Amino acid sequence: MLSSNIPVIAIDGPSASGKGTVAQRVATALGMHYLDSGALYRLLGLAAQKRGIVLEAEEQLAELAEQVDIRFGGDDIWLDGVTVGDELRTEEAGSAASKIAALPKVRAALLDRQRAFRQSPGLVADGRDMASVVFPDAVLKIFLTASAEARAERRYKQLKEKGMGANIAALLQDIRLRDERDAQRSVAPLQQAQGASLLDTTSLNIGQAVQEVLDRYRAVS
Ligand code: DC
Repeated sequence: MLSSNIPVIAIDGPSASGKGTVAQRVATALGMHYLDSGALYRLLGLAAQKRGIVLEAEEQLAELAEQVDIRFGGDDIWLDGVTVGDELRTEEAGSAASKIAALPKVRAALLDRQRAFRQSPGLVADGRDMASVVFPDAVLKIFLTASAEARAERRYKQLKEKGMGANIAALLQDIRLRDERDAQRSVAPLQQAQGASLLDTTSLNIGQAVQEVLDRYRAVS
């Protein structure tokens, strides 16, 4: 099958909106592949840290983005041949990813890597620019969001469940800062893409949000 005939569901949205969990469950329900594009930026941040590359070194980071050994398999993620655990989900890793993600050459270097996930029978991809830049021909484009307060609360619960320390006021501040940086950068800023439909999950649980995406997919496929 031509790659362009393989359906893509693009789910974009701000940090901690729940889009990762929703996208993953939609992929499972439809038997499709799943791309967590944020994990690529986070992994790149970790890889840079390991190599002592500063987060402003655009050329070096772009080169690293092309070459670094990153693999996804089931629930596991490998960096340089070693499985990566919870360190990928810390606020520090998110913040490093957000800084790296503002660099145009890094984003360009990651384009092909992201598009390689488009494999039969289909792909559910989540991130910030899935609908606008990476898969502009996606059959369904969703902008999934929730209030900053609801997102801070969800992230708080998530961290607590993992036994990690968390402070809700600090999380809320961090989410607001990250939203601002992701929305205001010059390349691929976080925004609702043309043709994307809004899904506000502030008062929805995960199951309801998943069902809503599945209903919208059925309506277009
Ligand atoms: O979705 P996330 O929180 O794991 O993403 C981490 C950071 O990476 C986030 O601050 C924005 C950035 N990102 C991006 O710029 N483009 C994407 N497609 C995915 C993530």
